[in-house]
Amino acid sequence: MISIPAHTLNDGTALPALGLGTWPMDDAEAEQAVRGALETGYRLVDSAVNYRNETGVGLGITRSGVPREEIVVTTKLPGRHHGYEETLASFEESRRRLGLDYVDLYLIHWPLPRVDRYADSWRAMIKLREDGLVRSIGVSNFTAGHIERLEKETGVLPSVNQIELHPLFPQEELRRFHAAKGIVVESWSPLGRGSGLLADPAVTAVARAHGVTPAQAVLRWHTQLGAVPIPKSSDPERQRANLDVFGFELDGAELAAIGGGARRRLGGDPEVHEEF
Ligand SMILES: NC(=O)c1ccc[n+]([C@@H]2O[C@H](COP(=O)([O-])OP(=O)(O)OC[C@H]3O[C@@H](n4cnc5c(N)ncnc54)[C@H](OP(=O)(O)O)[C@@H]3O)[C@@H](O)[C@H]2O)c1
Repeated sequence: MISIPAHTLNDGTALPALGLGTWPMDDAEAEQAVRGALETGYRLVDSAVNYRNETGVGLGITRSGVPREEIVVTTKLPGRHHGYEETLASFEESRRRLGLDYVDLYLIHWPLPRVDRYADSWRAMIKLREDGLVRSIGVSNFTAGHIERLEKETGVLPSVNQIELHPLFPQEELRRFHAAKGIVVESWSPLGRGSGLLADPAVTAVARAHGVTPAQAVLRWHTQLGAVPIPKSSDPERQRANLDVFGFELDGAELAAIGGGARRRLGGDPEVHEEF
């Protein structure tokens, strides 16, 4: 079994340095993929209400036989449930579907600034953490401005911001902000899903030099930046390879070569993207 390093979050809890993404798995696929991944050594799993696979993720966890306390289970609040009471109710539904006593990491999926209720949701998440139902609270797709507002209104910073991050969209400025605030960045679409990134000559050259796959080179790039990638794979062999990225080191020139490509967003812009 592969064992992986961990970050210590600003609330004192541990976050594995790499995890498993589960979108767009359905319940049946998620159960199998999560169970297999946990057996391989994954200890961080990423789900969301809007993936509609929390039930499968929960079954994968309980049927894996891996002690619950070793696993960091993540789920996310959807846009349609923003608001204080709505967040508390939505969380309870998530917890029920997952079949767990507590959730390790609970994130606001998107800020929806035009709806303007994310700060109310944040207050509810603080309460959930105080009540011991959630270990760590964070956000996803938040800009520096959104996070500064949470800090100003509540005095509580997120532990994690899960953002689109990959070599085509390296987000230097936002990463600097997070480093200064002590917030760990998780990278979604870390392999640049569907973009051709893994066939990029800069990536394949670095991979060849280390005798690893292009995906492993890209995932190592993330971990050396201090970001936590959550690659999705339903394939046991790719899951294993994606986790096995801590036995080699890229030098500065290789990190720059991998991250030096086009600045290209694959997903939505948090200032305007609306997902309910
Ligand atoms: N917070 C957000 O708004 C947000 C948005 C998007 C995604 N996410 C999260 O981030 C996770 C990852 O992002 P993503 O799924 O968009 O993209 P990704 O992880 O960059 O790419 C996933 C794709 O790459 C393939 N793949 C995986 N490992 C591979 C390897 N070693 N070699 C070649 N292909 C490989 C997978 O296919 P196989 O399954 O066949 O291996 C899948 O088609 C999601 O699952 C989700 O949990 C969050």
